[in-house]
Amino acid sequence: CGIIGIVGKSPVAGRLVESLKRLEYRGYDSAGVAAQVNGVLERRRAPGKLRELEAVLERQPLVAATGIGHTRWATHGAPTERNAHPHIAGRVAVVHNGIIENFAELRAELEAKGRVFASDTDTEVVAHLIDENLNAGLEPLAAFKATLDRLSGAYALAVLVGGDTDVVMGARNGPPLAVGYGDGEMFVGSDGLALGPFTNRVAYLEDGDYVIIDHGSARIFDAGGALVERPIKTLPASAAVMEKGNYRHFMEKEIHDQPEGCQRTIAAYVDTLTTRTKIPGDIDFAKIDRIQIVACGTAYIAGLLGKYLIERMADLPVDVEVASEFRYREPALNAGSLAIAISQSGETADTLAAFRYCQAKGMQSAALVNTVESTIAREADVIWPIHCGPEIGVASTKAFTAQVAMLSALAVAAARQRGKIDEAEENRLVRVLLEAPRLIAESINLEEAVRAIAVDVSKARDVLYLGRGPMYPMALEGALKLKEISYIHAEGYAAGELKHGPIALVDEATPIVILAPFDSYFEKSASNMSEVMARGGQVVFITDPEGERNAPAGARVVVTAPKCDPLIAPLVFSAPIQLLAYHVAVQKGADVDQPRNLAKSVTVE
Ligand code: G6P
Repeated sequence: CGIIGIVGKSPVAGRLVESLKRLEYRGYDSAGVAAQVNGVLERRRAPGKLRELEAVLERQPLVAATGIGHTRWATHGAPTERNAHPHIAGRVAVVHNGIIENFAELRAELEAKGRVFASDTDTEVVAHLIDENLNAGLEPLAAFKATLDRLSGAYALAVLVGGDTDVVMGARNGPPLAVGYGDGEMFVGSDGLALGPFTNRVAYLEDGDYVIIDHGSARIFDAGGALVERPIKTLPASAAVMEKGNYRHFMEKEIHDQPEGCQRTIAAYVDTLTTRTKIPGDIDFAKIDRIQIVACGTAYIAGLLGKYLIERMADLPVDVEVASEFRYREPALNAGSLAIAISQSGETADTLAAFRYCQAKGMQSAALVNTVESTIAREADVIWPIHCGPEIGVASTKAFTAQVAMLSALAVAAARQRGKIDEAEENRLVRVLLEAPRLIAESINLEEAVRAIAVDVSKARDVLYLGRGPMYPMALEGALKLKEISYIHAEGYAAGELKHGPIALVDEATPIVILAPFDSYFEKSASNMSEVMARGGQVVFITDPEGERNAPAGARVVVTAPKCDPLIAPLVFSAPIQLLAYHVAVQKGADVDQPRNLAKSVTVE
């Protein structure tokens, strides 16, 4: 879901849609815009993709210079036109990201006053409340503030008030909202990408802030109502560019971006001259007693890989948990531990809440994020950026490998600080990390072989992914990628658990992807492979040259990734599983970059 608001000097409808297109990647199922036409609010909305909204705008143009726009990912109320934002009540139009938790009681109160609701959303109460306050004689800004004081829950809002002044108001409590400074025009938007076509000068609201913009200025207030200044930053040039280049999909491009992405990540955490690691922040890994990682989705799987690497190399306990569970189960924590939040967007609501829980327990905190302006980054003691550039495809690829690359460097650094490896070994492992981009590129070259397999796999109803050691989280990631974008049911399993359940699923129609480089687990994985083949399972064996030579005969296909040190095997084995999911989805004609029901940045629980 995404927000844009423009107080402009040229026609606004096309610009609102242009900006919404740049927010499409976050996932949405309906969209809409509203604008001031000669002081009167008008809106156009449509369920489905933005092209539906564009078609409505072609039939019924919206001629105005000031307006707001929204892409909606349904929470309360189905993704229909009547539930699409903007919501209008009287003179007020509102777009909203997040959830107004007390909407039911507010709605009951407003209905008792005779207000009639036109949607099933939680958002509509906001428009009615502001309108009530205007009717009571408050100025727009005061009416807005009085409304904010009644809301509980998470929100980013943009509000348009019909009348003779051109202003847009915005507020943030949770989901981000940025203010863009143009030349004689001003903007609010969900992120720098949304504002990229219009300006590169952006300020980020803090939690509790609200803002009013007109043609030339923004006035920002904090939760207490005091006028405040928020620093204006210059967006990197990458915020303006959102091109697929020669690729069909952003996901495909981002898979291919990984050698360069990882190179940038690794360069940030190793010193190429001394071949030693360098981890920013004054965290003493010899002193901390434990690491707690919190994350969701693919970032959680990166965290699991971190656990495997750090525990084995640094002999330091690491717990990893999905943030939505962690945050509510009152886990026992120790102030002497380190909390790491892993989040591409830095805005995932559950991850943020889990991270805050750790901080409240007195733990040091580090944010492993892609978006350094994000809430999680801003609230952390230490920021560890992954530097892989904006990720647009909903299914995470290059952010995943960049997260894993950083955690690999972290494992080496922690091992060294804890005296588990000597300097010569640290030097060797840093050289291994520096080799990773080239080897990732080599494994991306397996694309043609993987595409051939995708034709078969696309016909399957279920797919199993198996692995041991670090290849177990990789199996989880392979299954997650496949189900996210191809809608084929897939499960990742620890290969050793095969006999405890999933083996019952094995038949001639089930492709079984086994991830097994020739490492210390190989013999065991090879036995599991035999067990599967004995039951007719169709094995897709992803291995390395030595694994290929030592594997039991009978796999349906073998994909041979380049040989590498175990430290970077997860990085090298990522491309084949990502490409498999990608080509299966393409084969099935699925919407790869915006899979159904999924959102890129989940700022609600
Ligand atoms: C969503 C995305 C996933 C992502 C997860 C966590 O579910 O679809 O690709 O892994 O959120 O996002 P984050 O921004 O916190 O890494």
